[in-house]
Amino acid sequence: MEHTGNSLAALNFYIDAGVDEVIGEDPVDRFAESQAAVAAPRPVAARAAPLAKTTETHTPNRTQTEADISARTLAAGAADLAALRGAMEGFDACPLKKTAANTVFGAGNPAAPIMLVGEAPGADEDRQGQPFVGVSGQLLDRMLASIGLDREGVYITNMLAWRPPGNRKPTPEETSMCLPFIRRHIELVAPRILVFVGGTSATTLLDAKQGITRMRGRWFVYPPDGDAGARAIPAMPIFHPAYLLRNPGLKRLAWIDLLAIKARLEDIS
Ligand code: URA
Repeated sequence: MEHTGNSLAALNFYIDAGVDEVIGEDPVDRFAESQAAVAAPRPVAARAAPLAKTTETHTPNRTQTEADISARTLAAGAADLAALRGAMEGFDACPLKKTAANTVFGAGNPAAPIMLVGEAPGADEDRQGQPFVGVSGQLLDRMLASIGLDREGVYITNMLAWRPPGNRKPTPEETSMCLPFIRRHIELVAPRILVFVGGTSATTLLDAKQGITRMRGRWFVYPPDGDAGARAIPAMPIFHPAYLLRNPGLKRLAWIDLLAIKARLEDIS
């Protein structure tokens, strides 16, 4: 049943991506081909090159406010995900929290090898207290299904746990204040692979100035500063499904990125 639902979702994603025609008599298993390519020895450069380093700093230098310090202390003191959720639910200094109906913490399987980080909850997410449950979440589900994943095969959260009013872009102050929470969240989940869904999480968490169009489909290392104590996690930015809904022609590129993620998952399992 689950399998049928996934296949149907994958089929819908193919159609959305423009794969709408059968071009041969017999099916070709492209996954098997890419698996064979992954298994075959590759030149060192091909493996090393995708781990791009970001060199330019995105996060502006700001004077630390009391709220920033409080967020940092709370995040650092959270020993597990339940404690982090509790700390965030009790944190009232972020202005976004005052207008939000819910703290949207995260969903899915924290033991999954892959963690997705979006931008911020929208209206549906705010109402339901769950990430990616609106129209862009539905497209995200189809994208995941196209590479054999569902919500139990991933863990999903956002840069910000509170909806910016009217879905406006979060300000640099709001983003910067909430950074310790998402950084701790990633530390506690400790995924094998990170996927940054959209430009906001990619540029902020990779400390980059490049836009999503340049970053998507490339492997980076999180954390970008190579903090000696932290485990380096391969991280790929992808187009945000809301962006894909506005620019359906880009689904072709999203599909290429999803295949790279699938190959990397197979590589590590
Ligand atoms: N967009 C996001 O980035 N996150 C959500 O949870 C919903 C929409």
